[in-house]
Amino acid sequence: MASPSSFDSRETTPPLVRSCRPPPKAIPLPHTNPTLQVDTKGVAWITFDDPERKVNVLTEQVLTRFGEHLAQVRNLASRAEVHVVVLWSAKGGFIAGADVTAIEAIEDPVEGAEGSRFGQRIFGSLSSLGIPTVAAIHGICLGGGVEMSLACSHRIASDSPTTKMGLPEVLLGILPAWGGTTRLPRLVGVQASLDLMLSGRQVSASTARRMGLVDEVAPADLFREKVAAFATAAVKSTRKQGARRSLFKRLIDGTPPGRRVILSVAKKRVMAQTGGHYPAPLKILEVVGQSANKPLEKALEIEAKAAGELVTSSVCKNLIHVFHLREEARKGTGVDDETVEPGRVEYLAVLGAGVMGGGIAQLAAYRGVHVRMKDIRHDAVASGLQHARKLFTGLVKRRKLRRREADQRMTLISGSLGYEGFARQDLIVEAVVEKMDIKRIVLRETEDAVRKDCILATNTSSLSVNEMASALARPENFVGMHFFNPVHRMPLVEVVRGARSSDHAVATTYALALTLGKVPVVTNDGPGFLVNRILGPYMNEAGFILADGASVEAIDGAAKKFGMPMGPLRLVDEVGIDITRHAGQSLYEALGDRLSPSPPLVALAESGRLGKKGGLGFYLYESGKEKGPDPEIYAVLSQTVPALRVTLEEREIRGRLVLAMVNEAARTLEAGIVQRASDVDLAMIMGTGFPPFRGGLLRFADTIHIRTILSRLNEFEERYGARFAPADLIRRLARENRGFYESFPG
Ligand SMILES: NC(=O)c1ccc[n+]([C@@H]2O[C@H](COP(=O)([O-])OP(=O)(O)OC[C@H]3O[C@@H](n4cnc5c(N)ncnc54)[C@H](O)[C@@H]3O)[C@@H](O)[C@H]2O)c1
Repeated sequence: MASPSSFDSRETTPPLVRSCRPPPKAIPLPHTNPTLQVDTKGVAWITFDDPERKVNVLTEQVLTRFGEHLAQVRNLASRAEVHVVVLWSAKGGFIAGADVTAIEAIEDPVEGAEGSRFGQRIFGSLSSLGIPTVAAIHGICLGGGVEMSLACSHRIASDSPTTKMGLPEVLLGILPAWGGTTRLPRLVGVQASLDLMLSGRQVSASTARRMGLVDEVAPADLFREKVAAFATAAVKSTRKQGARRSLFKRLIDGTPPGRRVILSVAKKRVMAQTGGHYPAPLKILEVVGQSANKPLEKALEIEAKAAGELVTSSVCKNLIHVFHLREEARKGTGVDDETVEPGRVEYLAVLGAGVMGGGIAQLAAYRGVHVRMKDIRHDAVASGLQHARKLFTGLVKRRKLRRREADQRMTLISGSLGYEGFARQDLIVEAVVEKMDIKRIVLRETEDAVRKDCILATNTSSLSVNEMASALARPENFVGMHFFNPVHRMPLVEVVRGARSSDHAVATTYALALTLGKVPVVTNDGPGFLVNRILGPYMNEAGFILADGASVEAIDGAAKKFGMPMGPLRLVDEVGIDITRHAGQSLYEALGDRLSPSPPLVALAESGRLGKKGGLGFYLYESGKEKGPDPEIYAVLSQTVPALRVTLEEREIRGRLVLAMVNEAARTLEAGIVQRASDVDLAMIMGTGFPPFRGGLLRFADTIHIRTILSRLNEFEERYGARFAPADLIRRLARENRGFYESFPG
């Protein structure tokens, strides 16, 4: 069934491919997409070219018209006027998937299953045409596009780097239900099909060829000719297409005990990765297991019923919500004024070659931006370059990049101690030590060395952007650009708009974040900006719960069960105990008593432990790998935690942790740090791994209901003190009986 259309709209159609629209004999039908043309050799070209979108999406209308063309082709084939069908795209991509909005609207499982049967019927008529059918895949081919290709007898893909095939349905909480879950294992085997369906990952043409997902890969610049030749050969050949799997693989895949092993290993992995919070991967395993030996019709019916169940689940709706948030961020500019044009950033400089500076430089070079890394110490520049080199080597080892490409990108990074060449820079990211006076001096100095239109951005995590701006002659060119650590892995960038930042500066920084593959969220200036401010009370509360006698396992376990990728104490270790303490103290100084640091966290920082980077924190680490909670930790914290562990109810622990975040999130809206509830949700998902299946922190709060939130906060305030006093906004929304999304839409 459906998939998100995640095609990169910046792609352009390669001219050779655009010129490949097949010529003659157009057969008119009421709608325009797809079209059917039959050439003089009896090849029926069905060409997808959505007139309203940049990518081809399989809407109900498109599928209906496609079905009508198939009926005509069947007719022509019976008179021997057509010998082969080619599915073609006139765009730079093949088919980006189904219409996500249509999936979102389904509320009834019966309707959901019917939607699946509709697609299955159309693709069924494709697979039963009785003549060869060829999917000619150039560019992106996702979800319904792959399912359509699976119903063809032959598949050929172009070798363009833009050619990617994948079944991302699982990422939206559903399964491929236009025949994909049934046909894929039959074509490429159970193991390879699970790899694609459970991960939602996209594979290149050559990987698709290796898996047996396509039969042939052809050069992109000769694609039209190669497809025509391939189609002609398909008519002549009786060779059965499909994967050439090894005997071992066939034995494992092709026998019931072999399949059982594969499914049980996969299930264990899914449970370990998702904690069982996501029904779709489990359903995919169930459907593949049940339908392996069934006739196609029966298998398709199992698939359709499963689709009906999944598509109406709250997890599916939440994941689609998150998908829309991401798409909106991807298409946005970061400013309201639509006339503002972001500046192009081809040359970037990073001040400070430390943990963050090195990471930012590597990412920029990876994305093709020239980077200058400036520090005050030779050894820092050298280690920044080394850090970048190590990350590139990791990419080569994981086969994400060829060695030659990594070397080329590495050459985009240069280092220096001075400002020479800064006149060429388009944007500077400051990532020096977290000290206001130093940052002000460094930024002022930099301003003198750059062009007047150069944008300056600070990567500070806790200092005021406005205070830094007041040191500058051109504060309008200054913003915050807050990356998270590790830069190459964390998807969020907070673009912090200072009181005097111009729209142009915000839009340019926002666009750069997108170029770097990040998800930008614009915030206003304020202590901890958005994500760290919300995390502050959450991590601090974990310390208070520890002081009440709960164990490290109980606290982190409750958060993980809720769906957080790691518990708050493990997060303290990950961020660094010194950094957490420093950030906690700044929040306390800025926001007052409700952020008063919990005694165990203060004691831990004073113990000299550093967390993961030092090998010791709440947990033990060996060579960077966590080895479970340190049994000594209670002795280390003995002044602040009781001698004996007590059992606190999991619900209570979870409630304290989550409501601490909701309450602070409400305050960020109240203070105008962000304007929309969805900004909080996107930032928390991308910046902290807040569980996407819950749709985001405030969407989750809305499902609990604002009045329940208020009454639980009141209870907690009575029991644990004033830090739980409900935000004024929560009191007001409860009085008005309005949710966060209703009150802060957009
Ligand atoms: N480490 C994190 O987890 C993290 C996360 C987000 C943001 N930040 C922010 O990023 C910034 C840098 O943090 P980091 O962890 O990379 O620090 P770091 O200590 O690893 O690196 C700082 C670098 O700045 C250099 N430096 C000092 N003064 C300089 C000057 N005048 N000109 C040029 N370079 C100078 C130092 O030599 C050092 O190499 C801080 O503002 C920090 O708050 C850090």
